[in-house]
This record gives sequence, C-alpha cells and structure tokens, in this order.
Amino acid sequence: MSMIKIQKLIHDYIKRDDEGNAAGTVRAIDGVNLEVKPGQFIAVLGHNGSGKSTLAKHLNALLFPTEGTVWVDGMDTKDGANLWEIRREAGMVFQNPDNQIIAQVVEEDVGFGPENIGVPTEEIWKRVEESLKAVGMLEHRKKSPNRLSGGQKQRVSIAGVIAMEPKCIILDEPTAMLDPNGRKEVIKAAMKLNREKGITVILITHYMEEAIDADLIFVMDKGEIAMQGTPREIFSQVKRMKELQLDVPQVTLLAYELRKAGLHLPASILTKEELVDALLGSEPGNSETPESREQKSDASGEPDTEADKKEEEAGNGNQG
Ligand SMILES: Nc1ncnc2c1ncn2[C@@H]1O[C@H](COP(=O)(O)OP(=O)(O)O)[C@@H](O)[C@H]1O
Ligand SMILES: [Mg+2]
Repeated sequence: MSMIKIQKLIHDYIKRDDEGNAAGTVRAIDGVNLEVKPGQFIAVLGHNGSGKSTLAKHLNALLFPTEGTVWVDGMDTKDGANLWEIRREAGMVFQNPDNQIIAQVVEEDVGFGPENIGVPTEEIWKRVEESLKAVGMLEHRKKSPNRLSGGQKQRVSIAGVIAMEPKCIILDEPTAMLDPNGRKEVIKAAMKLNREKGITVILITHYMEEAIDADLIFVMDKGEIAMQGTPREIFSQVKRMKELQLDVPQVTLLAYELRKAGLHLPASILTKEELVDALLGSEPGNSETPESREQKSDASGEPDTEADKKEEEAGNGNQG
C-alpha cells in the first residue's frame, strides 16, 4: 500500500477583499497526482507560492481537497472518522521553531502529544526518552527550550512528532530560519529517522543541497508537479530548473558550466567527490564515469572509502 496517494487534487482558497468578503478563489493546487511509498525520503522543491505548504497541509488533514482525493496510509482525508488517526500517523514540523514548543521543559514538550491521546504515563516516558535520543537531544531533556539554539528547538519539535509514533513526518521548510549548523543537525536527524526507523519523510525545502540524498524529488510550479525524479535526474536539468526559478546544488552548477566550456563531464554531478573523480577521469585514456565506479564498488561489496583508496593508489601508478 502507498504511504501517501494523491489523485487529481485541486485546492482553491477563497480570496477576500479588504472588508473580508469573498472575492473569488485562488487555485493553489491544480491537478496533482502523486504517490509516496512507505520508507521513502522525499524532497519537495518549488519557488515561493508554488503550492508546497498547501500540499503539505493536505497530508495531515489540516486542509481538505476542493476536488480529488488524498489517502494517507489508505485513509481518505475527507472521511472525518480518519482525522485523528491521520494526524497521528502523519506528523508535521513547521518553519518557525519558536511557534511549536509549548512546555517550559524539553521532556514535557515531547511528552505532550502522547499525553493528549491518553498514552499511559510509563509508556510516555519511554517514548520521550527514545524520541529525544533519536534526534540527539536526550542530554537536554531537563532544559528550558528558551536556552536552545534554533536547530536544537527544531529537533525537539521533531522528537515531539516522533513520540506519537508516526509512520510519516512532513517537514515544511524546517531549516528556513536556522544557521548552517542548525540546518545540518535537522537534516541529519530527519535522515536518521528515515534510515534507521523506516519513517517516511517528506521534506519541503528551498536548499537544494538538502535534497541531494532524497530517494525522490517532486518539483512544484503553479500548483502542479512540474518535475519528478531522482536527485540526479532532477539536478541534471539545470536549464529547466532555472526556468522554474530554482537553483541546482553549487557543485552541479559548476560541473554544468565546465561542460558548457567543453570539458567531458557527466551531466549529473551531485557532490564534490564526484566532481573530483569526474575531472580526474576526464583525462585522455580514462573513460571511467562516477556511475561505472559506483557499480564496481557496489559489486565488490567494499566500503566506499576502501574502494576510493584503491582507486587513488591505482591512479598514482601503484599496482597494489
Ligand atoms: N490562506 C490562504 N488564503 C488565500 N490564498 C492562499 C492562502 N495560503 C496560500 N495561498 C496562496 O496559495 C498559493 C500557494 O501557496 P503556498 O502553498 O503557501 O505555497 P509555498 O508553500 O510553495 O510558498 C499562493 O498563491 C498563495 O498566495
Ligand atoms: Mg510554504
């Protein structure tokens, strides 16, 4: 079964004039179809106003379709009987860390959700501990949230969502108000939950670098899914991304410019390491691409670092 399935979704907001009277509608989502499988890490990109937040709010039944259908874990969001189960299974983390923490002590804040749905006290403390541990915030459990950095606050917000034992978390630009360190902490925590606990993650972001490790990227434009694919498929389309007013990761852009200038490089460089390898590989007589390398080291079952070391040695004329 899909974790999330959306069919022909349309969402219209009611536009209001200065006096608050209805004055027409704004179509924020315009015919979206998509599917997210359990355990996937999804990134959603798109410039401001493209409909990302509106889409996100459909995923935990904060908004309902004007037309079409949204299923979360097989539950139709329009069916009122599913409301609380959907909100428990699909937790939301928003942009501003200061609006999401309500208690005076970190651990109380994390326990608030489970307490609200009647989880027994002993079980609440178990969940609080596990959730704080999962986001690397256990040592701060007795602190006042006021004393935390933005990145730490966002991780506490994520812990609060995890304490509800969700199948899916939706993060709507969770790093937009954080410094680079805080951003890294939050993305690392989300990635860890996905990889280690199998929680489906839907990350809305305008930092392209945060989307590199996603299983799948959806790019939104004017309320539609304009592009869909792996990070490599999406970021290799530099021109199309520019048309959609989006960047690609800096190193991808550099590789793109080098290619335009005549260097033989693959169209889809995502990391510094790949660029370095590709530049070395682009020397005459060496036809190896990062893709073929990847396959080789996968097949040999060796860890990347070992494989890298060997490659380096081989490149230096050392036959081992
Ligand atoms: N509460 C609202 N009332 C009316 N229009 C809205 C409301 N929220 C968003 N919109 C409009 O819907 C469109 C999509 O907005 P949003 O989903 O917030 O986009 P994004 O998150 O990608 O920036 C925009 O044109 C925005 O102005
Ligand atoms: Mg938004």
